[in-house]
Amino acid sequence: MTNGQLPTVYHRTPLGCIHHADSLDVMERTGTASVDLIMTSPPFALTRKKDYGNEQEDAYLEWFRDFAEQFHRILKDDGSLVIDLGGAWKPGLPERSLYHFKLLIMLCEEYGFHLAQEFYWWNPSKLPAPAEWVNIRRIRVKDGINTVWWLSKTPWPRASNRRVLQPYSESMKTLLSNGYRAKLRPSGHDISEKFAIDNGASIPPNLIAIPNTESNSGYLRYCKEKGIKAHPARFPAALPEYFIRMLTDPEDMVFDPFGGSCVTGEVAERLGRKWICVELVEKYLQGAKGRFETEREPPKPRTSKRDEGYYRVAHPGLLWNGSDERKSAPLPEDGGRRRPALIRRTETDAGRETDNRTASIF
Ligand SMILES: C[S@@+](CC[C@H](N)C(=O)[O-])C[C@H]1O[C@@H](n2cnc3c(N)ncnc32)[C@H](O)[C@@H]1O
Repeated sequence: MTNGQLPTVYHRTPLGCIHHADSLDVMERTGTASVDLIMTSPPFALTRKKDYGNEQEDAYLEWFRDFAEQFHRILKDDGSLVIDLGGAWKPGLPERSLYHFKLLIMLCEEYGFHLAQEFYWWNPSKLPAPAEWVNIRRIRVKDGINTVWWLSKTPWPRASNRRVLQPYSESMKTLLSNGYRAKLRPSGHDISEKFAIDNGASIPPNLIAIPNTESNSGYLRYCKEKGIKAHPARFPAALPEYFIRMLTDPEDMVFDPFGGSCVTGEVAERLGRKWICVELVEKYLQGAKGRFETEREPPKPRTSKRDEGYYRVAHPGLLWNGSDERKSAPLPEDGGRRRPALIRRTETDAGRETDNRTASIF
């Protein structure tokens, strides 16, 4: 249910517009099958402690139903819905919420969406959190990914992976220059000579590595100049850019119903797509407007020269050294229920040092 007010146009550009409104009100006035891509990151927070049940997860699903219905209606048959969702912990527990998986299942099983592909956005710069489970009790590892559900109205949305190719890795370049002998892999996969053909670039996996470390963008400079607080939960521009490139053509319509600082609109404008962003909270739009006020350079990927655009994940086992676990402390018998008095640093401790007097998730 919305307040039914007419959505206000907050800002217009040659290709798009920002509405200061409830996106349900905007969608109710949007034509059926008129949008090529819905690219969005909805709000979510599990904030209150509950003693039982999944009340908050269920409330979230109920809240989402009106949006799901409108998304399905306004999307073209060959269009896509891309939803970025951070995972969540159950309040006060080292247990994950299932809300994003439940949402995916609800969208597919009750609203008729198809899962074109699931993506994982890995943020290599994410700090270990929640500190209580990760740094203090050491019973969970850090949560470094968001799930990104790519959904569609049929199993055949318009898409091309040619738009998101990535440079060959150094080892692939070596293999291409030294030549490759076709052979059967241990998995039984038959790799033919075609594997060694240099196609100029490689097809990316469904893991997208983007550090969320924006610190000197046009948007942030604008906010600073005007004394505006930047939106606290922005996604990096490369995330919507990936899907806008892969799933739309110039002049297609891109819609972000949870616009925030309107990153999606900025990227769509730069790529020549039409777009609409809707945001409920006016203060977030004050900064969003700055994204369109001056000519901005497209952001460059922030990577060190040494890594040449690649982010590295350690192969598990680099520190295992045989049966080393016998030398480290035994597993906590209570599963970590009791908070350790001191942080004991073992030989294999490679995590960040934490001060357990201040770090807490409660
Ligand atoms: C996770 S943020 C999106 C951030 C955005 N992707 C960015 O990078 O700036 C979700 C936003 O949805 C907005 N929102 C929540 N409910 C809404 C609604 N019914 N209509 C429009 N915006 C809404 C919130 O105010 C919040 O700014």
